[in-house]
Amino acid sequence: PEVIFIEPNGRERHIDIASGTSLMVGAVQGNVHGIDAECGGCCSCATCHIYVDPAFIERLPAADAMEDEMLSGAAAERRDSSRLSCQISMTPDLDGLIVTIPDRQF
Ligand code: FES
Repeated sequence: PEVIFIEPNGRERHIDIASGTSLMVGAVQGNVHGIDAECGGCCSCATCHIYVDPAFIERLPAADAMEDEMLSGAAAERRDSSRLSCQISMTPDLDGLIVTIPDRQF
């Protein structure tokens, strides 16, 4: 399945991410700019913050309490569409997902 990342500079990146792989890992492997993922995906840094296209939000499992708490401390503005990309696992259903990366992670 493919994810379209919109980098902070506005550049669009189409990245194929295997089902079961997190959006964060897929983005890092695809050299997408703007996702720092300092903690390596254990939900303790909030530097993998993304904005999910509203059309896809309902297709994602809700954020758990830990993710919710980490998002409160994210560097960039928190929106209703904010998620941590390390906590979202790719599925076939998410093909075509559009994700915007905030202008900063620190
Ligand atoms: Fe650290 Fe997602 S990579 S919270």
